[in-house]
Amino acid sequence: MRRAFGILSLVLLLIASLSAANDLARPDLAQRVEALLKQMTLEEKVGQLVQYSAGDATGPVSEQVSFQELIAKGQLGSLLNVTGAAKTNALQRVAMEQSRLKIPLLFGLDVIHGYRTIFPVPLGMAATWEPQLVEQASRIAAQEATAEGVRWTFSPMVDIARDARWGRIVEGAGEDPYLGQLMAAAYVRGYQGDSLANPDSLAACVKHMAGYGASEGGRDYNAADISERTLRQIYLPPFKSAVDSGAATVMSAFNPLNGIPASANQMTLTRVLRHEWGFQGFVVSDWNAVAELIPQGVANDPATAARKAILAGVEMDMESGLYRRSLVELVRSGELPESVVDEAVRRVLRVKFALNLFDRPYVPVPASASPRLDAAHVELARTVAERSLVLLRNEEFHGSPLLPIASDKRTIALIGPLADSAVDMLGSWPGKGDANTAVTLKSALTQRMQQTGGQLLYAQGTGINSSSEGGFQEATDTVRRSDLVILALGEGAASMTGEAASRTRIDLPGNQQKLMETIVGTGKPVVLVLFNGRPLALPWAAAHVPAMVEAWYPGVQAGPALVRTLFGDVNFVGKLPVSIPRTVGQEPMYYNPPKTGRPAGNADLSHPPQNSAEKYVSRYIDEQNSPLFPFGFGLSYSRVAYSDVKPGSTSIDVQALNRRAGSVSVSATVSNRGPRATQEVVELYIGQRGTSVNLPAKELKGFKVVSLSPGESQVVEFKIGYDELAFWNEDMRYVVEPAQVTVWIAPDSVRGPSAQFTIVK
Ligand code: BGC
Repeated sequence: MRRAFGILSLVLLLIASLSAANDLARPDLAQRVEALLKQMTLEEKVGQLVQYSAGDATGPVSEQVSFQELIAKGQLGSLLNVTGAAKTNALQRVAMEQSRLKIPLLFGLDVIHGYRTIFPVPLGMAATWEPQLVEQASRIAAQEATAEGVRWTFSPMVDIARDARWGRIVEGAGEDPYLGQLMAAAYVRGYQGDSLANPDSLAACVKHMAGYGASEGGRDYNAADISERTLRQIYLPPFKSAVDSGAATVMSAFNPLNGIPASANQMTLTRVLRHEWGFQGFVVSDWNAVAELIPQGVANDPATAARKAILAGVEMDMESGLYRRSLVELVRSGELPESVVDEAVRRVLRVKFALNLFDRPYVPVPASASPRLDAAHVELARTVAERSLVLLRNEEFHGSPLLPIASDKRTIALIGPLADSAVDMLGSWPGKGDANTAVTLKSALTQRMQQTGGQLLYAQGTGINSSSEGGFQEATDTVRRSDLVILALGEGAASMTGEAASRTRIDLPGNQQKLMETIVGTGKPVVLVLFNGRPLALPWAAAHVPAMVEAWYPGVQAGPALVRTLFGDVNFVGKLPVSIPRTVGQEPMYYNPPKTGRPAGNADLSHPPQNSAEKYVSRYIDEQNSPLFPFGFGLSYSRVAYSDVKPGSTSIDVQALNRRAGSVSVSATVSNRGPRATQEVVELYIGQRGTSVNLPAKELKGFKVVSLSPGESQVVEFKIGYDELAFWNEDMRYVVEPAQVTVWIAPDSVRGPSAQFTIVK
């Protein structure tokens, strides 16, 4: 039976997204906004555009203010990082009882991959290739967060990330705009539900607009230089998808973008977002980004920074205090039209009305707070975690694949610094997640071995970033007494991934590589389980360790999810949402660059070039071009074969496509040749030649998750029309052009059979 993307579910999702999108355009809402706006003083208007953190600082803090006082005067619109029904209600009470106009506060928080029930990090969620799972997880996050007074999350982060050095690659859906679009929409639908007005609806904030993921050298907060075509073709589509799904808010980024700071960028925030996309919600700056226009050199004083940001389309100032200190004076002195402030206030109020905050400002305070997570939420966390795991390698060891772990492996040695680190399982931005609720690999394996009468031996071996080899001996002694080793290695979630955690070495930190080589050197079969927030370049492991699993940070159900897949209770289904390089020197690495005039083709790159034909091609002299593991790749306990790619017709008229009146259907046969049932992510790639601009050789344009029992074959069909074929052409028009089209229906971005058709004039 086919899963995902049935026509019916698409229609239902479309209806749901339309209704959320329409929330902000409701005429009754506009009337209430205008009526309130008329009563507001300039100070009160500016107050709605001001936001401070009333809890943890998630960035530098430049000023201390009295929230209570500002709220009472009607000069604060929003707070972030304050949670809990009692706390949010208490602050809300000041707004509702002491301020003149009783405009409710909006409480925001980074609810990124769960609130209390922590799901896999977003990069891991993307590895499921199942947007409906992401939607379900986000719905749960929304229910948990809203119960504690939080009605706004700074998520989804939809920055396309092509450079594994960038720490924030963990927060998004990876390198591909198509997968990114589907994930962006899924988060928004999940958070916002059917209507923003529902008490458990969490307003989404799509971030960081724009180009933050292209920070040069993968260094956080660095400049991004992206041509308009690439911006529109690659970086903006996930934002558009979130906005089309009704995202109530957008966050402007820190980085300079093509010379203009993203938080003073008229092109992205006004021309594209407001005018082209018709966005009705509001834009909040990233933390202190308004003040950072000064060090970025486009403002010499706070007032200029505030004026530039609001004129560009930043409606709310997170944390810098510059709107609070400057906007009133700027309007009074005539340097800023009051109509600009009015429009910003309108947008903020629109979201507050849509959330029904005026009529329901408080949340019920629970009689007693239970530290336990809801069982159904935990179960979904386990399912999502299982599906986020990517099997990278599963070689034969003494005649049969190492995984699933065979029942004769009675004694298992578990080694490594990530084997029992609950806090790391939660990943970066763990919301209000509690490490005590996270089940580690060690505790889940202990339970499993007890149930099966086997034995688990454990030694940490080394720390995550340690140079001491003090634990190596104990680790090898432990390994020698076992039948099989599970090695749990990787990065520290909080210190090495996420914001302000860029790395120049994307390998195993500390002496983990050495530990791995020592353990593999014992001759025991080793399963390497990797916990990390970015692709790690591990060529030695890919050559010497028989089994490798990419686990990302799986969340509260890390251990059970891993145990169930490693022992084969469930199959591996995840596929990579990012390319894994051989070496950091290949970064930025992504599967869909424009075509070069001198492709390396089939040149044998294992040795130095032998002649001019081998030399003058686009390659490195010391490394292959190909990734260690390509985008879209993931093994399972089955073997799925792809064959018979056939287009329904060999040519199609370009005008019909541009009228959206035609499509070519392309089908392929996928067959499960393995011994187990599986769910295969069937990927559709398209390449076009003969167009006015240089398009990537291959671009993901669709996928379907197909369930296959052993021996079963299915014909999988995709329709290829305007949406799959249009691009920003030479004249910067988004159209289909005559072209020679190659279509792959494939297991990943490298392999798979192809067929062709022609788009004719
Ligand atoms: C991050 C944002 C986050 C904000 C609020 C900033 O430092 O860049 O992604 O939403 O802090 O915590």
